Amino acid sequence: MEPVGIMEIAECNADIVTNRFVCISERVKNRIDFSAAMDITPFVFEDIAKEIENITHGLSGAAFALVFANRSEWDDIEKTLSDLRNERLYSTCVLVGSEDDIVDEADLGGILHYAASRINAREYDFLVKKGFAVLDEQHRAARDRAEYNALLLDMKQDQEDLINIGRSLSIEKDSDKLLRLILLLGKKITGADAGSIYIVEEKDDGAKHLRFKYSHTFSKNLPYEEFVLPIDANSIAGYVAMTGKVLNIPDVYELSDGDPVSFNSTFDSAHNYRSRSMLVVPMKNNVDEIIGVIQLINSKEDTSENSRIRGNEAFEITLATTEDFNVKVVPFAARYESLLEAVAGQAAIALENNRMMKQIQFQFEEFVRASVSAIESRDPATSGHSFRVAEICKQLAYAVNSETEGEYETVNFSETAIKELEYAALLHDFGKVYIDLAVFQKAKKLFPKELDNLMLKMDYLYRCTELEYNAKEIALLKKSRNGANVPALTGGLEAERKRLLDAIMDIKKELRALNEPTATDADPLKVLDGVISKLPAVSCLLPDGNAIDVISESERRNLEIRRGSLNSQERKIIESHVVHTYNFVSRIPWPPEFRNIPEIAAKHHEKLDGSGYPGRLHGENDIPIQARMMAIADIFDALSASDRPYKKSLPIEKTLAILQDEAKQRKLDQKLVDLFIRYRIYEKTDKNSLKGENTAT
Ligand SMILES: [Fe+2]
Ligand SMILES: [Fe+2]
Repeated sequence: MEPVGIMEIAECNADIVTNRFVCISERVKNRIDFSAAMDITPFVFEDIAKEIENITHGLSGAAFALVFANRSEWDDIEKTLSDLRNERLYSTCVLVGSEDDIVDEADLGGILHYAASRINAREYDFLVKKGFAVLDEQHRAARDRAEYNALLLDMKQDQEDLINIGRSLSIEKDSDKLLRLILLLGKKITGADAGSIYIVEEKDDGAKHLRFKYSHTFSKNLPYEEFVLPIDANSIAGYVAMTGKVLNIPDVYELSDGDPVSFNSTFDSAHNYRSRSMLVVPMKNNVDEIIGVIQLINSKEDTSENSRIRGNEAFEITLATTEDFNVKVVPFAARYESLLEAVAGQAAIALENNRMMKQIQFQFEEFVRASVSAIESRDPATSGHSFRVAEICKQLAYAVNSETEGEYETVNFSETAIKELEYAALLHDFGKVYIDLAVFQKAKKLFPKELDNLMLKMDYLYRCTELEYNAKEIALLKKSRNGANVPALTGGLEAERKRLLDAIMDIKKELRALNEPTATDADPLKVLDGVISKLPAVSCLLPDGNAIDVISESERRNLEIRRGSLNSQERKIIESHVVHTYNFVSRIPWPPEFRNIPEIAAKHHEKLDGSGYPGRLHGENDIPIQARMMAIADIFDALSASDRPYKKSLPIEKTLAILQDEAKQRKLDQKLVDLFIRYRIYEKTDKNSLKGENTAT
């Protein structure tokens, strides 16, 4: 079918080129006077629907079709048009009919006008103008709708991003990672290519400065280094930190002398980058203090045909060429100002939370350390033990982490787990605070006063013996008046007296020797019996007339101690420090990641063979690895520390030999003892800075 007329393309409005068609059905062409049509020349087709499909196929931009047809063919045309209808095809119809045509209400939407009679040239001209005005309006409305929809989707995405940002920020505990995350999220949500983050720091004198902490550029791998800058108007970030104002600069190279800030292009020149748009917002904490600044550079959009990328997706656009910087970098949309402020607000809270958490942790740790120092200062000999045990435990944990084969290959202590072990070690002997210091400081089998008392009794016995023999001598002298051979008698007496007094002096020495805790092969019970058997049977009365108990039951019990200086009762008291530690440490409301502290601390004296205390626990299932590590650290420090009240510190070879021996007897964990020696952990604690330990390990 030959078209009658030509197609004309006209501009609909300034930014969209539209294709306008007037299509007239063959069946109604004789009823229209389009001879005077001026703006748009019509097509005349027999099969309008088919022809419209042909014409619009392959066109770019929107297409407007105004159809003149009769009622009988309209249904088919309408169906084809609606099948073709998309964002780009807009159509309406002028029905040219007779008095008999019936038009349903449902069809009215697609019909512009109904002409029951012939359409003259003026009417035709009016209908064409009216038709395209209506289509233009529809097109504009559709475009607005699409714009609003896109904006709505962007805002919905922003909202979801904000929620996710809040969640991500609240989870991250590492400050450096948190800063990187804040910057990444800020850039993503605004489609920015580059960004930097600054933190306000307070110096000791109270003065504040801004520290450039972190920077990242998506399109280029640009280096950065931390530096500080003053909070003043000499830099854009300094100005925002000073004023708390949001700066949204369309092009930093367009800043004039009248603007409050200026741009330093040194970095751009050095790295062949072109900063253009910039959005800078302050990070304010919950009390409105500025704690940092987020600076974003180059908001990106790709508005080229078929690639409309903006908002979050635009983050992925790479700026490589000068053309890219000119075309794809746009000013930051105004809505990003409040959006980035919201991100900055969440970031500030996250940073503040992080700072407060760290401060609380620091305060708590210092409190624990101060408490441990206070307890250890009760006895100078104990100072530093808990700190050294904590340090050894940490080093042992790092050694376990370093293992790439063997039993502990798969065991890995996280930083949190190591902190848990450190706290447990610092507090492992905290229970000593509940125990009489004298028991801990008991260096000999008898307390010093007990020994003094015993020696006094021996001196008293000495005097009593002297007295008794003096009395005997006097009695003999009295006898001499009766002619007895006194010199001979007194000579015998004198010899006996001397023997007894010498024996008492020997006994004193032997008792002093017995009082020493040094382990010997000799059975102290037999030695003591021997000593007692040598005691002179002299009358030694107290002022109240009762005989003196030269070596009391209590003194005997202590002097009979076979190993060390503690009797069984005192040993139980010392051992009870673990229970006191557990009871005390359990009362601290530890966070979940530190929940094992009471158990670890309470088991530091348990031995794998069940010979430990207080639970006489057996094997690795009952004694956690941390407690097994602490047992090694504890024994090592107890043996190697100097200033112990009852024995000198042992040389390192001897100490390691004892640890090995304990491991062989399956008291200590053999693998851990091997690690302790192989990694030379005994060299990694500074014993000189911290002094010795006491009897309880
Ligand atoms: Fe202990
Ligand atoms: Fe200890």
